[in-house]
Amino acid sequence: MAERPSRGLADVVAASTALSDIDGRAGRLFYRGYDINRSQEPMEALRSLVSLASAEDPDKDSNEPGPNTRKAARLTAQQPVLVAAYHAAQCGQESRPADPEAGLAASFLLQITGAPPPDRETQILDTCLVLHADHTMNASTFAARVCAATLSDMHSAVVAALGTLKGPLHGGANEQVMRGLEAIRNSGGSDPVGAAASHALARLRQGEKIMGFGHRVYRAEDPRAAHLREMSAELAAASGDDIYYRMSRKMEEIVFAEKRLYPNVDFYAATVYHYLRIPTDLFTSVFSVSRMAGWTSHVMEQHADNRLIRPDSEYIGEHGLTWLPLDAR
Ligand code: COA
Repeated sequence: MAERPSRGLADVVAASTALSDIDGRAGRLFYRGYDINRSQEPMEALRSLVSLASAEDPDKDSNEPGPNTRKAARLTAQQPVLVAAYHAAQCGQESRPADPEAGLAASFLLQITGAPPPDRETQILDTCLVLHADHTMNASTFAARVCAATLSDMHSAVVAALGTLKGPLHGGANEQVMRGLEAIRNSGGSDPVGAAASHALARLRQGEKIMGFGHRVYRAEDPRAAHLREMSAELAAASGDDIYYRMSRKMEEIVFAEKRLYPNVDFYAATVYHYLRIPTDLFTSVFSVSRMAGWTSHVMEQHADNRLIRPDSEYIGEHGLTWLPLDAR
């Protein structure tokens, strides 16, 4: 029996297209293979948002000291607002307005947590921001200076720095520290502190790294870590749940006993941010809020006395090879 023609051409393929696709059962729409609901990690989003902000900046075309100072102030003030806007969008909420009267740390905590923070929490975040503001020729600052030394602009240099800070061997370590602590605690054992010790020991014995330990330059304890440890202890006690702090102390003990390694700035920053009720996925972005002051100052320093940064390389390949045309092989 002949098939009945489809009414209204339903289910009839009328053309081939690589532009869009619908998965009707799952309720998904794709543009050129990309799910329209694709989400970006905070540091990826910030990289794009800072780049976008340059289009609106009235001083974007000048690297002179006056315009650079104004751009540095704007970038430093914008960064916490961008982080908060990202967070609100991610939660499907309207961004809460910043409070220009409150100062950067208090306004940021207000935007993120939805309530005016207690004074002591504001002081602690303020201290964290100062402790993270600059740190000689760390990887992201170096990236910013290399970019600025081509006489590129401040926003471009900051975008290079953000991309560099994102890596887990640099600013991304604070988030990894908290994720590690959360995973151990959520694995459900009755003794998370003991589990943190066994976890650290097992990783070290397998030759793996523990995030938040070690440093290229410090051979003694990172002086910032001591302040962060103290603030973590204080906030843990005030929160009534000091498990993450005690897990951190135990890991510190194990890593030192096994490898003679000290915690770096990222180790206790993780629990400090956690106790300040900052969501874990924003930790590296909070680092960028503080480091903006350092990056922009380095860009100004570079522009003020510039020479292209162009190191040499050591050639380790072969010499004297004979070139053969591909079709002669
Ligand atoms: N956990 C365990 N072992 C570590 C370690 C860590 N976090 N950091 C360094 N080590 C060990 C290495 O395994 C290596 O041991 P080996 O000599 O037996 O092979 C030795 O210490 C030197 O490490 P290396 O990675 O070569 O040092 P580096 O100067 O290149 O790296 C860091 C410095 C910061 C990248 C490194 O310590 C690290 O990866 N730390 C974890 C990430 C982190 O916290 N980053 C934030 C930095 S502020």
